[in-house]
Amino acid sequence: MATLTGRVALITGASAGIGRATALAMARAGAGLVLTGRNQAALDEVVVACRERGAEATALAGDLNDAAFVARLGEASAQAEILVNNAGILTYAPLLETRMEDVEAMFRTNVVAAFAIALEMAKRMAARGSGHIVFVTSGAARNVNQFATVYSGTKHALAAFAKGFRLELKGTGIKVSEVAPGMVDTGIRNASTHPAVLKSLAARPYAPLTSEDVAEGILFALTAPEGARVDLLEMQPRGN
Ligand SMILES: NC(=O)c1ccc[n+]([C@@H]2O[C@H](COP(=O)([O-])OP(=O)(O)OC[C@H]3O[C@@H](n4cnc5c(N)ncnc54)[C@H](OP(=O)(O)O)[C@@H]3O)[C@@H](O)[C@H]2O)c1
Repeated sequence: MATLTGRVALITGASAGIGRATALAMARAGAGLVLTGRNQAALDEVVVACRERGAEATALAGDLNDAAFVARLGEASAQAEILVNNAGILTYAPLLETRMEDVEAMFRTNVVAAFAIALEMAKRMAARGSGHIVFVTSGAARNVNQFATVYSGTKHALAAFAKGFRLELKGTGIKVSEVAPGMVDTGIRNASTHPAVLKSLAARPYAPLTSEDVAEGILFALTAPEGARVDLLEMQPRGN
């Protein structure tokens, strides 16, 4: 089994879904973990589960849209040589009924905050001469699905960031990977309550990926041989 022993990782969005499953998988692989999200109680539960798997784990709760918190998180994760840049939100809606507050919220969290924490950690990694940043984008980073125009816009932007970070950090010792899953069975769609969206989701004819499936993909990227880099890993539910 590939190992992350001795490596410390910061995982954003670790209180639920893909981030939580990734924390548990990385704990099993021997990584030390700094976990973040806004929900302190949920983070505490993940910390306990990571420690039960033998990992050193701590949590720092806060909102990635808060610049002061991002700086504090960078300080608290100064030893991290891995960033799993995973936190994100999604509200599906028919285009003509899109609310500007949802547009702003998705771009703030999925784009601006994701850039801010990547930049914060990349500066520290560059100074150290090593690191690995994994951007969790989506199948929506390359396609646009019904009801998801805005979310797709955010994920297209995030995929561009992954490419830009890889380009500009060449020679610093930092690897940059993008993991782009299709539909995953998490609570991220709970914010989408429009009847047309609910009808469409209920009619989905295939089983989604699990968070654990995606965690394995992230682990695969992180444990690539030293001289190799996983640039883009696209994952889809088998039945899609
Ligand atoms: N589920 C899918 O079908 C799917 C497919 C492809 C890609 N993705 C991407 O995978 C990533 C994880 O999604 P998921 O499905 O695991 O969703 P999830 O279960 O809803 O988890 C989202 C995580 O992001 C955190 N988060 C959201 N806003 C935040 C903020 N402002 N500050 C700090 N943390 C914040 C949440 O923590 P708190 O609630 O504790 O703040 C939570 O831990 C997202 O980037 C998503 O776009 C998901």
